[in-house]
Amino acid sequence: MTLRYISKRADSFEASGIRKVFDLAAKLSDPINLSIGQPDFDVPEAGRSAMIDAINSKHSGYTQTQGLPQLREAIQKQVDVKYGHSDRSVFISSGTSGALTLALLATIDAGDEVIFFEPYFVMYHALTCMVGGLPVPVSTYPDFSYDIARLADAITPRTKAIILNSPANPTGKVASRAEVKAIAELAAKRDILLISDEIYKSFCYCGDFVSPAEYNERTLVLDGFSKANGMPGWRVGFVHGQGELIEQMLKFQQYTFVCAPNVGQWGALAVIDVDMTEQIESYRQRRDLIYNEISDIYEINKPEGAFYMFPKVPQGYKSASEFVERGINEFSLLVIPGNVFSSVDTHFRISYSASKTTIERGIDALKKLAQVK
Ligand SMILES: Cc1ncc(COP(=O)(O)O)c(C=O)c1O
Repeated sequence: MTLRYISKRADSFEASGIRKVFDLAAKLSDPINLSIGQPDFDVPEAGRSAMIDAINSKHSGYTQTQGLPQLREAIQKQVDVKYGHSDRSVFISSGTSGALTLALLATIDAGDEVIFFEPYFVMYHALTCMVGGLPVPVSTYPDFSYDIARLADAITPRTKAIILNSPANPTGKVASRAEVKAIAELAAKRDILLISDEIYKSFCYCGDFVSPAEYNERTLVLDGFSKANGMPGWRVGFVHGQGELIEQMLKFQQYTFVCAPNVGQWGALAVIDVDMTEQIESYRQRRDLIYNEISDIYEINKPEGAFYMFPKVPQGYKSASEFVERGINEFSLLVIPGNVFSSVDTHFRISYSASKTTIERGIDALKKLAQVK
């Protein structure tokens, strides 16, 4: 049945394929779950206590649209120290996803093109469609590095924005300084908004994270506390960019999210300077464990960041979906097929945000799955 009042906009994008895997997971009694896109460590104690204090202190009202002043000012100070840009303002969003939604609402008109690298984080495609824009994925297969000539070729007079996500979901790829610089300079030269999704910036295992904002003062940076501090359900993100764009995004925030959750912002304020080195180191070890065990049987580009890897499905399978289906049916293994992040279905995403025991069970299942029947 098609309800008369469903919008064309609703029809312009599909429900996330990741949800389908989560639905399957709910039916399995003891799945080997390597599909989860959130950290498995706790919010630091300081954050949990601050949130409880905020609840007990009855911080239940709205905050200012731009966020709790103490949190906003603390982040603004860090951003000013790091970049020293004369025109770079911060506001607090309802998660990084909220920030991305506002960014596209404030910049994309019907028919405008948004470029992002493929495979991509699912929201880039869906949100671009939702605001009436045209998604323009630029392939990074087979090694997921950023081909600047390919990017330049994808630009048209309708290109409004380029989204860069490094470290990347789903590949774990971290753009090199040279790649970041080239993308930043190309966007500046062509007067295209560069949106840098830096949500995984603390998960870098090979050298320092590089932001394109170092090379392009107009870059809009999206960031947040979901992954870095283990609080995805608290819905606190932040944004920084040119004042005029920030003002426009805040206008949309007023009429949509209103503000980020009040008590979540108090929790975020308490963790802003907490050292997460130990947690990040544990993720590096998990990456090494799984990579060292399966890289001789699967074609994998060694991931340098985030908590994902994106191996190629072995020869003999028709598609990643077929591979994932067999993994579920025979081993209760949950990984995500590549067609969720891409127009091709040749790879699959492993999340190693899981316990050592789960990872070891996963390695065992993956070794068996590599032997095609
Ligand atoms: C690349 C990327 N950006 C943004 C988000 C959304 O994060 P948040 O929980 O802050 O909305 C995710 C979550 O998986 C992500 O992988």
